[in-house]
Amino acid sequence: MKIAVLAGDGIGPEIVAEAVKVLNALDLDFEMESAPVGGAAYALTGHPLPEATLKLAMEADAVLFGAVGDWKYDTLDRPLRPEQAILGLRKHMGLFANFRPAICYKELTHASSLKPELVAGLDILIIRELTGDIYFGQPRGRRVATDGHFPGAEEAFDTMRYSRPEIERIAHVAFQAAQKRSKRVTSVDKANVLETFQFWKDIVTEVGKEYPDVQLDHMYVDNAAMQLVKEPKRFDVVVTGNMFGDILSDEASMLTGSIGMLPSASLNSKGQGLYEPSHGSAPDIAGKNVANPLATILSAAMMLRFSLNQEAAAQRIEAAVQAVLAQGLRTPDIWSEGTTRVGTAEMGDAVVAALA
Ligand code: NAD
Ligand code: IPM
Ligand code: MN
Repeated sequence: MKIAVLAGDGIGPEIVAEAVKVLNALDLDFEMESAPVGGAAYALTGHPLPEATLKLAMEADAVLFGAVGDWKYDTLDRPLRPEQAILGLRKHMGLFANFRPAICYKELTHASSLKPELVAGLDILIIRELTGDIYFGQPRGRRVATDGHFPGAEEAFDTMRYSRPEIERIAHVAFQAAQKRSKRVTSVDKANVLETFQFWKDIVTEVGKEYPDVQLDHMYVDNAAMQLVKEPKRFDVVVTGNMFGDILSDEASMLTGSIGMLPSASLNSKGQGLYEPSHGSAPDIAGKNVANPLATILSAAMMLRFSLNQEAAAQRIEAAVQAVLAQGLRTPDIWSEGTTRVGTAEMGDAVVAALA
């Protein structure tokens, strides 16, 4: 089993080091190979996703990814921004299905942004389409407007775009995931305004007919954003487009206590996967040993489950995470009165020690 380890920028190297520590403690036969990505790769090679890094990722059984991006690259030409590395990996590997589970561990109900009774037992699965939408639609660019409200003015434009097969395949993923859970799917759209999302809604409805055992409902994204904080437990599987899924998953993370608790898996149709926390490179806390490594450690568990056929090992990691929370250990983002504050490395060590 070969794992490509791409740590990236900011807190990336710190949190990935903890996940690697946990993987190494499992006594499984892994081969891990690291490569530079993001701003770190830009500094070394002049490109955020060097050929060799892409090749390593494409040939590995799974990719463990940290995060990319740094404020110091905000002035770079857009195609070379560090973020292009993760977008490039998603595109080249065809990673269209992004699973972002928002689970509120019982020890963290008081760390949630919501009242404990609203999040106790919370277990939502956000399924975000990851290779379409306004993220990848062409054309995009800058020009001088020839029409619109200000003809003659400088303008920028993106293209929001979804094809039938793109919507069908993510809908199948969502319904099949729901069949293994509580058999409910909420499809989130903006069909009241956007043609792309009326198309989305129509196709998800069609695909839903093939899954009569799953209850499908539709919700506009603005209402979904509100319902997520009003009554989050009404949701089970949420399926949505690339942009809405990006935003709603960050929102959902705060129901679980912190974005530092939200893992993710990005899968393609060949069974390859890239595993990364849902958060970014957090330059504001980088290098301080305060970042929460649990989202990355839980992403490694998803990697064992989905790409490496090691369900038992995945469960060992998840149980160890639960155990350290039960011991009262908390990085600052999830700390509350009466618990013990630990750093990034101490949290990783504690997970290793708790592995049964
Ligand atoms: P961010 O997710 O990096 O940080 C948002 C806030 O959450 C910050 O206050 C940060 O300190 C906190 N935070 C994030 N992860 C944490 C953790 N593990 N433990 C404790 N606190 C944590 O989002 P941002 O600040 O908007 O973006 C920073 C950079 O990361 C940008 O360049 C952005 O483009 C990039 N980014 C990359 C990815 C990725 O690589 N997949 C994802 C999101 C953002
Ligand atoms: C994420 C990030 C990325 C996204 C950025 C860094 C391109 O926010 O993985 O959630 O928008 O998909
Ligand atoms: Mn995001």
